[in-house]
Amino acid sequence: MQEVAAQIMPRVDRQFVGKVQSEVHASTGVRLVSCEFDTASYQPALFAELGIVMPESIARSVPKRQAEFLAGRYAAALALQHLAPVRNQDLQVGIGDKRNPLWPKGVVGSISHVGSVAVCAVSRAADKDYLGIDVEVVMSARVCREVARIVSTRQERELLCAEGLSEKMALTLIFSAKESLFKALYPSVQDYFGFEVAEVCALRLGEQSLVLRLTERFAEKHKLPREYECQFTMGEHWIQSVTCGKFPRRAKLKAIG
Ligand SMILES: CC(C)(COP(=O)(O)OP(=O)(O)OC[C@H]1O[C@@H](n2cnc3c(N)ncnc32)[C@H](O)[C@@H]1OP(=O)(O)O)[C@@H](O)C(=O)NCCC(=O)NCCS
Repeated sequence: MQEVAAQIMPRVDRQFVGKVQSEVHASTGVRLVSCEFDTASYQPALFAELGIVMPESIARSVPKRQAEFLAGRYAAALALQHLAPVRNQDLQVGIGDKRNPLWPKGVVGSISHVGSVAVCAVSRAADKDYLGIDVEVVMSARVCREVARIVSTRQERELLCAEGLSEKMALTLIFSAKESLFKALYPSVQDYFGFEVAEVCALRLGEQSLVLRLTERFAEKHKLPREYECQFTMGEHWIQSVTCGKFPRRAKLKAIG
């Protein structure tokens, strides 16, 4: 009955933006905004309504992609309003060559979307040099079988399972943590690195944190530290990972230069 009502209602009366939550992430201090959205209610006019510029590449994409892009950029605009360096400035977040978001000067940030939720994390660049966020739905057994060897080693999976995580949770967490690391480091390295470049080498389940270690070769190539702390949150069906921090001085010089 409800479905029928939704179909006959004019599209404009239905809500694209649902519940919005904004908080300071307790363990990292970064600003987190999540925004539920309804792809079925999407229409291009919402970009103007929500104050988001629609880039040409997005205008050429399918409505589902336009909707998730809009929700992510809307969450970003809300998150940026909390940061002193960008107050009263243009809150648009551009798109880089490799789909990486281009943040206003003085800001680091990251976006993820899954299903009907978009999340954005931002920080002042004075407080963090790198920041990546990722949200994943817990993988099915079939997906686990397909991707396990691509995204992880047996050692990594055993490490997490030994702490009591199911195989599905363990693999989803490894995947999500590595995606957040990729997004965090991409602006510095400008290198599309794969899952084999990092391994989960420690898990502190009680603190909801783990450590990712880069291979020596990759870290040396980009003059980066080898280890990165990732904070995660687990729901019954999803996992969110945030990897952020500051580079030691020498690595920072390389990253900027
Ligand atoms: C790019 C990638 C990380 C996106 O992740 P995803 O799970 O497919 O999708 P998400 O919704 O979580 O994230 C998408 C957002 O990531 C951001 N993103 C995309 N490319 C990015 C890049 N090169 N650098 C930083 N952020 C990027 C964008 O904001 C994008 O949303 P938008 O296009 O609407 O702005 C993923 O598709 C990918 O290519 N992964 C392979 C690389 C990797 O993870 N290596 C592991 C290293 S250990």
